Formats: sequence, structure tokens, C-alpha cells
Amino acid sequence: MSRLTPIRFQDTDLDAIAEASGRVAILVTPEGKLDLGGRRVNRLTRGAVARLVASDRFAKAKSGQVISLAWPAGLAADALDILVLDRKADKVAARKAGAALAKVKDKAALTLLAGNAKEAADLALGLALRDYRFDAYKSAGDDPQDSGAVVMYHSRSQEIADAAAPLLAVAEGAHMTRDLVNEPANVLTTTEFAARLAEMTELGLTVELLEEDELEKLGMRALLCVGQGSASPSRVVVMQWNGGAADDAPLALVGKGVVFDTGGISLKPAAGMEDMTMDMGGAGVVAGTMRALALRKARANVVGLVGLVENMPSGEATRPGDVVRSMQGTTIEVINTDAEGRLVLSDVMWYAQDRFKPTAMIDLATLTGAIIIGLGHENAGVFSNDDDLCNAFLKAAGAEGEGAWRMPLGKAYDDLIKSRIADIKNTGGRPAGSITAAQFLARFVKEDTPWIHLDIAGVASVKSDTDFAPKGATGWGVAALNRLVRDRFEQE
Ligand code: BES
Ligand code: MN
Ligand code: ZN
Repeated sequence: MSRLTPIRFQDTDLDAIAEASGRVAILVTPEGKLDLGGRRVNRLTRGAVARLVASDRFAKAKSGQVISLAWPAGLAADALDILVLDRKADKVAARKAGAALAKVKDKAALTLLAGNAKEAADLALGLALRDYRFDAYKSAGDDPQDSGAVVMYHSRSQEIADAAAPLLAVAEGAHMTRDLVNEPANVLTTTEFAARLAEMTELGLTVELLEEDELEKLGMRALLCVGQGSASPSRVVVMQWNGGAADDAPLALVGKGVVFDTGGISLKPAAGMEDMTMDMGGAGVVAGTMRALALRKARANVVGLVGLVENMPSGEATRPGDVVRSMQGTTIEVINTDAEGRLVLSDVMWYAQDRFKPTAMIDLATLTGAIIIGLGHENAGVFSNDDDLCNAFLKAAGAEGEGAWRMPLGKAYDDLIKSRIADIKNTGGRPAGSITAAQFLARFVKEDTPWIHLDIAGVASVKSDTDFAPKGATGWGVAALNRLVRDRFEQE
């Protein structure tokens, strides 16, 4: 697993700059104003910074951009990075600037002269989020496998370090999510996934693994029927973080963890099937969020549950037309074995409510291709039975720069999943495919449970770089859920 690059916060030491190795970065305002560190670097480089500031190149640069000078005379460093940053930059702008710096940094060590910058903690968060690579399977050449450390000099280093600590917990959670989502399915099997979650007991989480015989006893036939064609056993993992009052009902997070989705007997076409290694994205976000909450010792009770299965065709696999009974008791006609995520979630969501009586429940799933047709890769689909909770989530996602867009629910859509021979069927045809999937889940939500369903098929993993992640897994949702917990479920 990749490790978060360590960031050390220190009081500014102007005399150490000349000898710093790797890269040195300074902040310059779009008007060309230098802070103390910038002025020292300008002197050491015999005016190189001032010449850059006077150039056309600088005049065209916008706040948040980086201009690099290679092998600067007067510095031991291999490069000098000039980060253009408006003094009034807000938190999101500071994060983006930090991410831009991480991109040029690559694997080098970095000394960042942050002066007395206001949003330095968010600058560090952006740096940490973007300083990510998944190179576990790249045979090592001359490249160092680990990223060089970062030292941030700041006039109030202790204050910035304290402010950055809970933010860096979010970055670490998001990196865990990305590692899980990027991992190929022959490595991240159901059992390996469960084992990685079990390791989080180190952080103070209580982690339980439910095996197939227990799931059978609980009556989770909907979940089990998805995994029964695979050589990997199905698992449900329960992670509890109890940072709140003992008698406070928890927030429940439920994740779809299909470690690979071939479609089963309703086999998917070959083209692009390899992308279905990311079909455990919902479970990945639940895991990463639990990690972040534990790392920052959130004062809230949160339980994360994931259903881990592999959807494979075989002589033992579920067939189209089969009828299964869910833990709730509802019978389901499996029209299409490729609509498996909702089968997995129905049982885990029911179990979550039955056992924990949560104050609210949020499920996350790479559930439908249709949500990508509707919203592309910019926004996750948000479905809810509770306006208040839903608005709080949308606000948290907005503040974190994670796209989220509410979609409708309603009886007319629910009518589309009526079955001829069972209580419901698992597909409603092509129209409104994401909504009928959400309606299916709604059947497993108790009347008084405030609930949000997040369809993250379009945002969990993408084919091009985003502001905060290289192409591949994004970690979408960890920051928004962490903020929602902080703003709505935490004590004091
Ligand atoms: N895992 C897929 C959805 C998906 C598609 C995720 C593309 C990420 C990218 C899901 O299990 C699925 O196959 N859904 C079907 C449902 C259909 C059979 C009703 C779909 O969207 O086509
Ligand atoms: Mn599927
Ligand atoms: Zn799937």
C-alpha cells in the first residue's frame, strides 16, 4: 500500500534554504510580491526570481500555477518552483495550488517556504491529496519507489501543523480508497479486502468479518446469490468507530464491494470489462472514510459495513429468472445477473438497520452505467428520502469540491420494478436506470431511517487527471462524508 508522503511543519529557517536538496518552492503573489523566504531565494539566485516576476511569462500566470526554474545557481536544490498564489486565496484555491505543486514535485523532496500564508493547512492538504501514485506493479528501474518528504516552513508552524492534522487524516483516507480501487481483482479478492480492513483495528476501529455460514444464517440470500459463482467466498465486514457518546445511535455507511463484476451469466461485453475492478468503489470509500475518522479521532459514532463479493459466471452461478429471498423477507426475481450491486446492498442495508438502528444511513455504490450517461464523470447521483440530510450532504460535498447532484425518486419509478412472480425484480429496463436501481434500494430502507444513496459509478475512477488525483481512482466522497460527520454528527 502506498504511504502518505510525510509533511513536516517547521519555523522558517532562512539560513537552511541554500543547502536544501530536491526542490525548493516559494510563494509569489500575482502582483509579484515576495515574502521573506522569497526575498532570500531571490538574493541567493542573484535576482532570478525578480527577473521572472518582470517577465511576460509571469504576467500571464494565474493564481494557483507553478513556474519552475531548473538547476538554479546559488541553490543546492535541483529546481526552484515559484507558486503564484493570491494572498486572499480561499481554502479550495489553496488546496488546488498545493495539488499543482505536488504534480511538479513528483517524487523529489520538497522544501516549501510558506511564509505566513493564511491557508497553509489547506495548501498541505492539496499537496498530500495529489502526491499519489499507484506503482506497486511497475518493476523498479532507477526510480525511487517512495516520494521524497516535504518540509513546510511557516511563521506559525505549530498552529499550521495542528490545523493540518485532521485534514491530512482525510488525505490518508482518500489514499486508502484509491489503493483499494486501483488494485487488480486477482490481488484484491474478497478475502484480501477483508484482511486489509481487519488491519484497521490498529487505529482503534472494531472490525468484524462475517463469513458465508453466518451470512446464510442471517438469511442474506440476495447477497450470497451474487457471489455463489466465484471461487472467492463472500464476506460482510463491519467496522465500528465509537468516538461519540455511548448511547448515541450511529451513522451507518454501507458500501458495494463487488471486487470484480463480469456481469455473471448476463455476461458483460469484453470491451472495457477490465474497468470492473473498480466495482468495489463504494466499499472503498466506506473504508477510507472510516480510516479518516479514526485517524482524526472523530467525536461521533459511525459504523461502516461493506458487502464483499465477486460476480462470476460458473455452473453454480445464479441464473436470470432465479428467485431469491432477501434477509428482509422480500422475494426478488433476478432478471439480469449484472444488476448485482442492488442485491448485495439490499441485505447489507437491512442488516445495518436491524442491528444498529442508525440515526441515518448512507450507501455508496458504483451501481449503474446509466448514471454516467446522465451526469458524466463530474457528479455522483444523490438520491434521498430526507431533504434535510440530503441538503447537508450536498453542502458538504460542495465545500470539498466533490461533485454531487440530486436525482428524483417516486412511485411511478417504483412501479417499474414490479415482478410477475416475486415481490420485486432486480431491473426496471433501460428508462431511468439509475432511478429504478435507487427505488430497488428504497424497498430496503425502514420508514423512519433518513437515507442517502450515492451512485458513484461515474466518479470513483476516471480516465484523466483531476485537480487532486492522477488518472484512475479518485477517492471521491471521503472528504465530503468526513465533513458531513464533522458538521452534523459530531458532539460539541
Ligand atoms: N457495476 C455496474 C455499473 C457500472 C457501470 C459501474 C460502469 C461503473 C462503470 C453494475 O453492476 C451494472 O452492471 N449495472 C447494469 C445494470 C443493468 C443490468 C440494469 C448497468 O448499468 O448496465
Ligand atoms: Mn453489474
Ligand atoms: Zn456492478
